[in-house]
Amino acid sequence: MITELALRRPDDWHLHLRDGAMLQGVLPETARHFARAIIMPNLVPPVVTGADAAAYRGRILAALPAGMTFEPLMTLYLTEGTDPADLRAAAASGLVKAVKLYPAGATTNSHSGVRDFDKVRGVLDTMAEIGLPLCVHGEVTDPAVDIFDREAVFIDRVLDPIRRATPGLRVVMEHITTSQGADYVRSADRDLAATITTHHLIINRNHLLVGGIRPHYYCLPVAKREEHRLALRAAATSGDPRFFLGTDSAPHVDPLKECACGCAGCFTATNTMSLLAHVFEQENALDQLESFTSLNGPAYYRLPMNEARIRLVKGDAPVSFPDKIQTGAGPVTVFDPGFPVFWQVAQD
Ligand code: DOR
Ligand code: ZN
Repeated sequence: MITELALRRPDDWHLHLRDGAMLQGVLPETARHFARAIIMPNLVPPVVTGADAAAYRGRILAALPAGMTFEPLMTLYLTEGTDPADLRAAAASGLVKAVKLYPAGATTNSHSGVRDFDKVRGVLDTMAEIGLPLCVHGEVTDPAVDIFDREAVFIDRVLDPIRRATPGLRVVMEHITTSQGADYVRSADRDLAATITTHHLIINRNHLLVGGIRPHYYCLPVAKREEHRLALRAAATSGDPRFFLGTDSAPHVDPLKECACGCAGCFTATNTMSLLAHVFEQENALDQLESFTSLNGPAYYRLPMNEARIRLVKGDAPVSFPDKIQTGAGPVTVFDPGFPVFWQVAQD
């Protein structure tokens, strides 16, 4: 039995850090284990311009505790008013590593997102030309489409037409939750990849709803049927370079989760590496964990792999994680997988 594993230091290719007191509270949870992360731009107001991204990057680095190293990889929030010249300059300077597409209304702070995809055609053409990845929240917002079908319908109605109309556009389907998402990624031999979250490898919609509603398991895209969770596990553990980790760790204070209309988001920054070791061991795929967390992402983003390493160690006793992180904005509940976990990142 394998009880120790050395990996290149992982990166998180989809992370919400927020701002202010929340940023201050949650950043160490990611920086403790991860070298870099793609930082989601859905602040209020959103990170739209290169200047916004530079300022936000400065606030993230200022919130980093002394002695920790972490590189925020900045993204811009695509709006119908995004200026291709500003985006081109922000990418050329190395500041911005991707652009995030939220269909308007799809999720938290997405109202500034895109309603009419024809209005962003020029931006997408520029991105294809310069090779800047488009990170896509892949759900339709049509009220007539059932929430459990919104990802699959998005692929057919929106994503595939965009990709066909914009040859060379490099796309990351964020947080895929369905077998259709995984199959669509596999159908392309270039310019398409997907992130998979930790929590979607662990929970299905029963965990969210059976025996009582569990607000800390509510996220978007919502967890689907068990067959989809198994398809995501197969994709993540396959070693296929088109799949890599993006936790979508998304902190909300407890009062905004535990209420009549709770926010979407699972906070997994604290225990993600332990949970992934558990999942990959269950799937007999510990040898693929490094590809998923540390190799496939940098390769797709055309960035160097991290040279530093971390060690994961499996002990005899379950590891205990804090139930909550206390931030200046309020308490944030740490994702509870619902089973004991024996893997932990060694404090070397
Ligand atoms: O669960 C989610 N939370 N999904 C998203 O797409 C957004 C995120 C957030 O910002 O809270
Ligand atoms: Zn997200």
